[in-house]
Parts: sequence; structure tokens; C-alpha cells
Amino acid sequence: MDAKTDILIERFGFVFIVAGVGFFILGFIFQMLGPVLFLGNIPIRSVEEIAHEVPWQFRDLAEEYPEEFKRAFGSPTPETYAEALRLGRDIYIREGCWHCHSQYVRPVANEPLRYGPVSTASEYQNELQLPQLFGTRRVGPDLIREAGVHSNDWHIAHFYDPPSVEPGSIMPGYPWFYDEDGRPKKEALSIVTFVQWLGSWERR
Ligand code: HEC
Repeated sequence: MDAKTDILIERFGFVFIVAGVGFFILGFIFQMLGPVLFLGNIPIRSVEEIAHEVPWQFRDLAEEYPEEFKRAFGSPTPETYAEALRLGRDIYIREGCWHCHSQYVRPVANEPLRYGPVSTASEYQNELQLPQLFGTRRVGPDLIREAGVHSNDWHIAHFYDPPSVEPGSIMPGYPWFYDEDGRPKKEALSIVTFVQWLGSWERR
């Protein structure tokens, strides 16, 4: 550094430090206040509100797997749909699906072309997203627009043994969601219900 730069730094060093720290604090406050002020009053929907309308995928599971469904849930009603959604969400957390899958379409890198509309805050203001399941890694594809991408049957086969329907897949199988004859238990029906719900508000 030459003498001129030295003098400049000496003279304005204090200003730079104060400005740097000041903007840091300002940024910190806005990052915190912004979401609270602008997004904090979006109502939080309960699972019961969400489950008010039973989607065709849940009724389809009852038709495709009548015995298994009857044993697990009885019949497809708003109450049993709510139960399946809750259990599916718990399984998603328990099995660490969030370790390989995100649930958030970002407004970058043409993601909407791949997954669909960019995610909005209101999509996460519900009981099933508390805590939110954005995830941090994408070993597998994003799942927030998963509803209707595949059929129930595809998911039932996929969770049992992913490479059987998606050759070369590195996703682990979840055979403990099935009984010894390979028929879906309550867990399989619930996790399929949960992934078929993800993004169902965008496409049906
Ligand atoms: C080790 C990482 C890993 C884990 C853990 C994992 N997955 Fe996957 N998943 C993948 C990969 C990779 C794919 C893409 C290949 C395929 O379809 O099998 C995938 C695909 C999927 C798909 C199909 C997506 C599409 O649109 O084609 C769904 C649904 C899914 N996973 C759900 C789950 C759920 C639910 C769990 C937890 C029970 C889970 N995954 C656990 C890696 C993982």
C-alpha cells in the first residue's frame, strides 16, 4: 500500500467501521422485522381445515387397497384424511425424508420450469408445516409440487423398492411400511397421502 492509501484508511477507517456495523444492524433488523410485519398475520390453517375436502387420491387408495385401507382407516372421510396427513407428516420427519428432499421452489435457476410455481409464504402457514420442512439438500427432487405427478400405485411400489419403478434410483426402500406379503400398512397409505397432498393446492 502506498502512503496515500494509508492516509485515506486512517482518516476514514472509523467511518467505514461505523457504516459497516450500522448497515449490518440495519440489515439484521429488517430481515427480522420484514417477515414479522408483512407475513406474520397470514392465518395458520389447521389440519382439519385442510382435510375438509377429501381429495380423489385418498378415495382412490380406499378403492385400490380396500382391505388394507379398511383396516388402517375405515373409510375415506375428512377425519381419516386428517389422521393420514398427520401420520404421513410424522413419518416424513421420522424417516429423514427431509435429508434428501426439499419442499421449496426457489425463484432462481429456472426452478419453476422444473417444479412449478415459486413457493409463497402462505403455503407454509399451516399445521403440517410447523416446523416447516424446506429441507437443505436435494439428493432427490423437490417435493412441494408432488401431488399428482405420479399415481398412488406408483408411490406404493416406489416406497417399497424405488429401483423397481425408477431404475438406478439411490433412494432407500421402506419395506417396513408393508406387511410380510408386501401389502401396504397404515404407514405406506399415510406417506402416500402426504406426498399426494404436497402442492395439491396448485394442481389437481
Ligand atoms: C438417500 C436420499 C433419499 C431419501 C432418504 C429419500 N429419498 Fe425420495 N428420492 C431420492 C432420489 C434420488 C429420488 C429420485 C429417483 C427416484 O424416483 O427414486 C427420489 C424420489 C422420490 C419421489 C418421487 C419424486 C418424483 O417427482 O419423481 C418421492 C415422492 C420421494 N422420493 C419421497 C420420499 C419420501 C417420502 C422419503 C422418506 C420416507 C424419501 N423420499 C426418502 C432420494 C431420497
